[in-house]
Amino acid sequence: MLIRPRRLRENPAIRKMTRETRVSKESLILPLFLEEGLHIKNPISSLDGHFRYSPDRVGEAIENALQHGVDKVLLFGIPAHKDEKGSSAYDNDGIVQQGIRKIKRDYPEVCVITDVCMCEYTSHGHCGILTGDKVDNDETLEYLAAIALSHVEAGADMVAPSDMMDGRVLAIRDTLDKKGYSHIPIMSYAVKYASYFYGPFRDAAGSAPGFGDRRGYQMDWHNAKEAIKEAMLDVTQGADILMVKPALCYLDIVKAVAEKSTLPLAAYSVSGEYAMIKAAAKMGLIDEYGVMCESAISIYRAGADILITYYANEIADAIEKGDIG
Ligand code: PBG
Repeated sequence: MLIRPRRLRENPAIRKMTRETRVSKESLILPLFLEEGLHIKNPISSLDGHFRYSPDRVGEAIENALQHGVDKVLLFGIPAHKDEKGSSAYDNDGIVQQGIRKIKRDYPEVCVITDVCMCEYTSHGHCGILTGDKVDNDETLEYLAAIALSHVEAGADMVAPSDMMDGRVLAIRDTLDKKGYSHIPIMSYAVKYASYFYGPFRDAAGSAPGFGDRRGYQMDWHNAKEAIKEAMLDVTQGADILMVKPALCYLDIVKAVAEKSTLPLAAYSVSGEYAMIKAAAKMGLIDEYGVMCESAISIYRAGADILITYYANEIADAIEKGDIG
């Protein structure tokens, strides 16, 4: 026998030397939830191990992430006030804007990325402005641009629109450029499916739609060619980083977008993916650490350059220990 694949599996040193997928802590982004108020660190029951922080305490989450070697966060806000037009989303003193200022003042080295959407801020829970019971795409664009601008004015390093309106990357790019922020990158949730896997997030953020669902703007999970269409549209609108979301059920999509585009590609391993691993581990059915490592690597192997995950700190530890990477 000339060819024996097992030779390269003989010992850990050889196995690690010949690994095909390399990962680093620099590619990890940790989602963080901010809640209006003081002295708050509320456990999120649907996301075991995660908390909603008021801005005065968010430093605790940042310190912790930095200790693990994670220096990038994706911010979500839970406002005290919701209305039809989501006005707290673009309020200069809104919850995310307060959080950005606090983090950038105390930890200027941390890369602060913000989720740009309306669903946490609207009384109806949809990702845009309604006309009747439909989200009005073109009217929503102005609001998204205003949200992105207010985040950047507060000090955000990058904005990440997640609403899935047509044309939003260009609208945000135009506004940022006109206001002197042409250097701020946009990470577009280019390929975002109307997924059941967002359930725990919607509990955490209180952002479930009050009526109907998001299928009029988020993508139908039967579609793969449409993912390329969405990704390429965002490239032409000036996106700097593309994202596919969710990750684990969509590895074919991650691979397809990675092959078609020259932009860095992020994958968002969403709340339901995290919650499923946690729940199965709690029931004694799987080894949490092992499944976390294996699923994270599968996302990189499919072609992701960047991973947004609720396990960012723990994955960084696994990289440090040499179990992955
Ligand atoms: C806001 C947004 C959502 C998520 C990220 N940004 C919720 C949604 O679209 O309903 C989901 C993230 C997760 O499940 O971890 N539109």
